[in-house]
Amino acid sequence: MKIQQEEKEDYDEVFKLIENAFKDELYTDHKEQFLVERLRKSESFIPELSLVAEIDQEIVGYILLTKIKIINNNSQPTTSLALAPVAVLKKHQGKGIGGNLIRKAHGIAKELNFGSIILLGHEKYYPMFGYEMTKNYSIKLPFDVPDENCMLIELTENALENVNGIVEYPKEFYE
Ligand SMILES: CC(C)(COP(=O)(O)OP(=O)(O)OC[C@H]1O[C@@H](n2cnc3c(N)ncnc32)[C@H](O)[C@@H]1OP(=O)(O)O)[C@@H](O)C(=O)NCCC(=O)NCCS
Repeated sequence: MKIQQEEKEDYDEVFKLIENAFKDELYTDHKEQFLVERLRKSESFIPELSLVAEIDQEIVGYILLTKIKIINNNSQPTTSLALAPVAVLKKHQGKGIGGNLIRKAHGIAKELNFGSIILLGHEKYYPMFGYEMTKNYSIKLPFDVPDENCMLIELTENALENVNGIVEYPKEFYE
């Protein structure tokens, strides 16, 4: 399996992959593929953090990290990243592809000097990669969702020490 930066030629295949991956998921609006289309055109998009996993020239997995801010009225905003979505073709799930994409994205994000990643996701999946509940920090997501689904990881030690506030997502998340 190869992981590399997504290219324009991959867009159609990635669209179908996301549709396929989320097809039977319960807690979703089944519109993640459209979110990705909007995010690619947004200011929050970082091409190096839009990654595809390929096996024998077929795209089997995808991950996207986009720029977000943690807003606090008393200080400058802190830049962070949102992980949304990560998706693996149904027929290839459970083989470690999602995990490899997540670890690879962490490495690149760190190289690009991002200190943290925040996400809304399955409470049993992401802790395997070092995510903890945002509740353990003074950081809140702007959604009415259970605490256990709001997670973050510090890519560098204490990146979020003394950071508190509410996460501001790009407008593309709300369309
Ligand atoms: C979630 C997803 C990206 C994981 O990718 P993957 O390649 O299947 O996962 P991996 O092979 O790296 O990891 C497999 C492990 O994760 C667990 N796992 C996979 N999906 C899970 C989920 N939704 N909740 C909890 N655990 C999950 C598996 O049980 C397995 O655990 P085990 O190794 O102890 O048996 C993939 O299953 C997928 O595309 N799902 C549909 C889309 C989705 O829900 N995306 C995440 C949005 S938050």
